[in-house]
Amino acid sequence: MDLKQLIQTSADQLEQAQLAYGQGTLTALDEATWLVLWQLKLPLDLDLTEDLKQLQLQVLALQPQLDVTNLALANIQACQALIAQRIQTRKPAAYLTQEAWLQGISFYVDERSIVPRSFIAELIADGAFDGWLSESSHAFLDLCTGNGSLAVLCAMAYPDIQVTAVDISKDALAVAQVNVEKHQLTDRIQLLEGDGLKNLTQKFDCIICNPPYVCEASMQKLPEEFLAEPSLALAGGSDGMDFIQAMFIDLPDRMNDRAILVLEIGNEREHFEAAFPRLEAVWLDTSAGEDQVLLLTKEALLKFKTLS
Ligand SMILES: C[S@@+](CC[C@H](N)C(=O)[O-])C[C@H]1O[C@@H](n2cnc3c(N)ncnc32)[C@H](O)[C@@H]1O
Repeated sequence: MDLKQLIQTSADQLEQAQLAYGQGTLTALDEATWLVLWQLKLPLDLDLTEDLKQLQLQVLALQPQLDVTNLALANIQACQALIAQRIQTRKPAAYLTQEAWLQGISFYVDERSIVPRSFIAELIADGAFDGWLSESSHAFLDLCTGNGSLAVLCAMAYPDIQVTAVDISKDALAVAQVNVEKHQLTDRIQLLEGDGLKNLTQKFDCIICNPPYVCEASMQKLPEEFLAEPSLALAGGSDGMDFIQAMFIDLPDRMNDRAILVLEIGNEREHFEAAFPRLEAVWLDTSAGEDQVLLLTKEALLKFKTLS
């Protein structure tokens, strides 16, 4: 069996098992490709559109022992065992590999924190909110940091900033610590345990936040893969807005004059607009559409507070 056949067979097995995706990949084929390449210690950006001969040439430089035109039985069995584990446990692939990728950057992850997949990552990479920042925007806050991936991406994208990264979960912060060290950013990212903005006294220029926002009705329908994640990372109360309601009370006091908040709310735009009808939000365009992430200026928040 060659590499392409192994990936296709694995994808067929995943497809048949009717798994849920959305924690790093969106299809059975992408998930099978990820798991097989990871198991064979091959890079995820291997060009699989090449014919087998060219593919073997790509692999030769990376793993001279590996024949992808005719895989060794031990390699096939190891990949099939991993695919079987994915099917039997229903755990997200990232928990099996303990690795997740965002914007081409590798992050450590395990069951103590959610699998990172925030759309804020692509906005950071695209510089989508650079127009709201200035040369004096140095203090960033990653509120609800989880495994620390957004804090790390911010620190990489903006070399002059300092990032404070807060989470209520000690477990998640332990995972974030691994990532801050892995990317050698201990001098630029400070991890803090805290409930929302409560333990903070500093003011920030840019606050990014991917909070728990899943509404109760959606929580009831979560597939097993998502139930494997800490519920603290997902559940946002009956309309998904519990954390955001509490955050908005203290938020203006934690913002410098021209500060912004970049907030992910997933599929809860309707609930967000119902909860905060007079709030002037700028909806940012992401690969999933214009209703996943919004931007608020301090000015808009103060105006909203006066109106409500
Ligand atoms: C949706 S996850 C986002 C994690 C990470 N930022 C990401 O994008 O992958 C939400 C995170 O918020 C944390 N959290 C939940 N309630 C919190 C609170 N009251 N204060 C601070 N963090 C909280 C959870 O522990 C979880 O890590």
